[in-house]
Amino acid sequence: MKTRLTSLLQIEVPIISAPMGPNISGPELVAAVSNAGGLGVLQAQMHPPEKFREELAAVRQLTSKPFGVNFILQFPCEHLIDISLEEKVPVLSFFWGIADGYVWRAREAGCKTMLQVGSVADADAAARAGVDVIIAQGFEAGGHSAGRISTMTLVPLVADAIPNTPVVAAGGIADARGLVAALALGADGVCMGTRFLATPEANAHDLYKYKIVEASENDTLRTILFGHGWPNAPHRVLRTAFVTNWVGKEERGQQGRKDEPIIGHTRIVGQPVPIP
Ligand SMILES: Cc1cc2nc3c(=O)[nH]c(=O)nc-3n(C[C@H](O)[C@H](O)[C@H](O)COP(=O)(O)O)c2cc1C
Repeated sequence: MKTRLTSLLQIEVPIISAPMGPNISGPELVAAVSNAGGLGVLQAQMHPPEKFREELAAVRQLTSKPFGVNFILQFPCEHLIDISLEEKVPVLSFFWGIADGYVWRAREAGCKTMLQVGSVADADAAARAGVDVIIAQGFEAGGHSAGRISTMTLVPLVADAIPNTPVVAAGGIADARGLVAALALGADGVCMGTRFLATPEANAHDLYKYKIVEASENDTLRTILFGHGWPNAPHRVLRTAFVTNWVGKEERGQQGRKDEPIIGHTRIVGQPVPIP
């Protein structure tokens, strides 16, 4: 299938697998999607520089197709962007900030840029600054969401506002019907996160994958509850027993207190990381 997105990014199908932090979308998922003709996007922002280079090399070992690397501009990432430009990563994907400063540097390095936004105003500003692809994210989206209105409402508004820039729809899309609907709304492609989360290639815990597959349409919640380290940023999460317990006490989640009890550990790039 050909759209402006496939021509611009030199991919075969207008499907992007969303970057999923901290490292859920690692080299295996990125390469699987890119090898299948879409665009896989790596999330490796918490990696130290040498590990970040290793992840880029791992992607390149698994695929020779275009892929992207994602940066959440709320957090320090300049050093990793420098590495990505030096390594000529085909696509730099940005979220939660203004990407204007990277557009020309990326262009000089031969890299394309994408920014995920949640409003027409932010889409318009980014398109004017020369960002190559705008991802319009509705509030259905899993993970952190900038969008405060539905994908179905936002996408046509963005597509009309920036007719000369390819628009990608994100949020609540999980199959071919969603892709067709997004194209009908004026998008040039889709970006799906949750749909790829429960695949064997994603670095999510098996229990998380199971819970995603098992969940019904009523089992998620958009909240600021998990604000530790990233306060007041809404995110869509599974409505677990923990979440149900804390609904109504979201302010507490913004404090990032040092005395937070540790409720578990995870591993990021092989390192144990406590979960407060
Ligand atoms: C578990 C998870 C983690 C995410 N992490 C990131 C991230 O690190 N960077 C980013 O730009 N978007 C992130 N997102 C949001 C996606 O870019 C995308 O907007 C979203 O997945 C689309 O909605 P969907 O999950 O309904 O497909 C994340 C989404 C999920 C589900």
